[in-house]
Amino acid sequence: MGDRAMICEVGPRDGLQMTRTFVSTERKLAWCRAEVAAGIPDIEVTSFVPPHVIPQFADAAAVAAGAKDIPGLRAGALVPNLKGAVLALDAGLARINYVLSASEEHNRSNVRRSTAESLEDFRRIIAERDARGLKGKVAIGSGIATSFGCTIQGHVPEERAPEIAAALVEAGASEIMVADTVGYAGPAQVRRIMAAVLRVVGDVPVSAHFHDTRGLGLANVTAAVEVGIRRFDASLAGLGGCPFAPGATGNINTEDCAFLLERLGLETGIDIDALVRLREEVETWLPGERFSGAVARAGLPKTFRRAA
Ligand code: COA
Ligand code: ZN
Repeated sequence: MGDRAMICEVGPRDGLQMTRTFVSTERKLAWCRAEVAAGIPDIEVTSFVPPHVIPQFADAAAVAAGAKDIPGLRAGALVPNLKGAVLALDAGLARINYVLSASEEHNRSNVRRSTAESLEDFRRIIAERDARGLKGKVAIGSGIATSFGCTIQGHVPEERAPEIAAALVEAGASEIMVADTVGYAGPAQVRRIMAAVLRVVGDVPVSAHFHDTRGLGLANVTAAVEVGIRRFDASLAGLGGCPFAPGATGNINTEDCAFLLERLGLETGIDIDALVRLREEVETWLPGERFSGAVARAGLPKTFRRAA
């Protein structure tokens, strides 16, 4: 078997958190079903946040419940605090993705507390899961937002991401997602920070979460692949962005990221044409939003063959 890479689709979460139109629960679930059919079983399906903070996720419990009935789907949800984790556990999800920030100021803007307080909350979330007898059944990972720089604070020291990753792993994290929330990262920095994170996490998997705000999203994927990362978050049509980080825009595009990974010789199992058809449908649900992507515009090369 050749080398493999996987994409976690974050469109129904990151992709929808700044869009103006509410997408119905049925459509969110149809989106997930189509992604699974296109070869992407790992999806962040929603976010457990207060509806007054992000109205798009007012139906989080209904989406999580519906996701459990989709064969093959490994559904996860984002949670910003213990309350969100309790709701996600109540909904019966087997994957929870916590989020805190390497930038103190983004952490305060995003979740209204210090990064140290967020780490304490992560420990409480692990304790809550274990108290429910769900250790080994529910995986709890954590994203480290603004690991490469911050639009509020500016510079974020490069040691922050590995320091926080080590603390999260020590606390029981099952996965670490290193995130460039605002598109400040560049390839050389990606190689340094991802390699430093890999050195401290033992055998806990590490994924990268890039935004394409300044056009370096896919270059950063290549850099991360070079140091051994094989898991990437991406969003259909490049939707996405954090409402609590000024100037944030879309994630790297799922279709283009799959194309790149395949061209790097990494098997993804993804049917890129099926994703392009899906994004055409999703586009009709979100009038006025910016849909990006080169493969959708130009089509796959006639000569394209998936990595084997
Ligand atoms: N889901 C639903 N309701 C929640 C909640 C959650 N995760 N967390 C808190 N609440 C409720 C509380 O029960 C309380 O309700 P009440 O007023 O009826 O008693 C209310 O919201 C305020 O709770 P509090 O703990 O004081 O939260 P806060 O106002 O300090 O906000 C967060 C903290 C974390 C909830 C908020 O900053 C947030 O949702 N941040 C997420 C931002 C985000 O999604 N960013 C994009 C992804 S990176
Ligand atoms: Zn993001």
